[in-house]
Amino acid sequence: TGYITYDPGFVNTGATSSAITYIDGEQGVLRYRGYPIEQLAQHSTFLEVSYLLIYGELPTKDQLEQFTSRVNRHTLLHEDLKRFFDGFPRDAHPMPVLSSAVSALSTFYQDSLDPSNIDNVELSTIRLLAKVPTIAAYAYKKSIGQPFLYPDNSLGLVENFLRMTFGLPAEPYEIDPAMVKALDLLFILHADHEQNCSTSTVRLVGSSEANLFASISAGIMALFGPLHGGANSAVLEMLEGIKAEGGDVDTFVNRVKNKEKGVRLMGFGHRVYKNYDPRAKIIKQTADEILSKIAGGDELLDIAKRLEERALSDDYFVERKLYPNVDFYTGLIYRAMGFPTQFFTVLFALGRLPGWIAHWREMMTDPATKIGRPRQIYTGEKQRDYKPLSER
Ligand code: CMC
Repeated sequence: TGYITYDPGFVNTGATSSAITYIDGEQGVLRYRGYPIEQLAQHSTFLEVSYLLIYGELPTKDQLEQFTSRVNRHTLLHEDLKRFFDGFPRDAHPMPVLSSAVSALSTFYQDSLDPSNIDNVELSTIRLLAKVPTIAAYAYKKSIGQPFLYPDNSLGLVENFLRMTFGLPAEPYEIDPAMVKALDLLFILHADHEQNCSTSTVRLVGSSEANLFASISAGIMALFGPLHGGANSAVLEMLEGIKAEGGDVDTFVNRVKNKEKGVRLMGFGHRVYKNYDPRAKIIKQTADEILSKIAGGDELLDIAKRLEERALSDDYFVERKLYPNVDFYTGLIYRAMGFPTQFFTVLFALGRLPGWIAHWREMMTDPATKIGRPRQIYTGEKQRDYKPLSER
């Protein structure tokens, strides 16, 4: 109490302490549990990074094997949950479908409702890591009218997800190792980003002691917006738009600079990175390689490169410290892999999942945690008297 700090968008408000992810926005540094993102991108795997984020240390060989086999054992969805997908229109956006299905996990696993039960939190953690890829794949299958494939637990997490997404029951699915490696890398790069909008949402919802499934379901919806995870789809729509108009990046950049309503350079700018986004740097390095392996080059990649070059040499972007962020090149890679544009943000959610879980768990065990309850500056009417309808 006393006076209230006014900080729209929480630009300067530290809402929590955290030992999970370190970002230095001026220097373009990102570390998970102290490990530089560049090293993890080069040497680690998504499941290993998930373990690191959630439990705080890199796993030993035994720990990783145990963790992997536990996740593998929980990939199946309850048959009744599978029917859930039939309730949505066929052209439903996969993000609300994903969020609804994750929310529904609370009804299938009522043992999850007490967030203070550590064993259940552990089980919910594994269930989420295992089932969210299955849910995501089924959301896709539903949208194209193909049958759902049961997970094949002899496969790794990413292989299994790709098979459930692109495979067919009657045909063996040929796994492309370049695609697996690329998707695993993208998941690593998305795995955590400290107190971003969706993670803060997971924490805020969880601060009321709502369970893990409820909190993550809310986080998925926060990620949905085009200023956050939805940006990866928006980048691709922007590039397609430029291509349709003849590939002229100058005209587009001028529209952005003139602040035409609703026209932003999507995939550029970041609240924290004011130098460059280290994730974008890694993705850019690999985008060419991946795209040539998977699709044999791409016209939109050429537009993206020209757009980036044009923006980086323009005072408008330089003065505002606007650089490409993680989403600038990811959409192109996802597209080359065969994912539809609407699905890109689901892939972001799959990557961010271990980060959300790690933050929720950290919050639950932090003695300083209180229910999140921001204050406000009231700007409405002073007290006034009610008028009967006949006098209004
Ligand atoms: N294109 C054009 N102008 C921009 C952009 C952009 N992408 N981003 C910021 N600006 C301008 C903005 O108009 C403002 O200019 P002025 O001072 O003249 O009003 C100035 O730069 C500061 O912008 P801001 O909106 O106050 O910055 P913010 O920190 O509130 O917003 C952001 C950060 C990421 C929401 C914003 O840069 C943006 O909308 N970018 C495009 C969407 C995007 O790519 N989002 C993905 C973010 S990274 C992945 C993730 O975490 O989800």
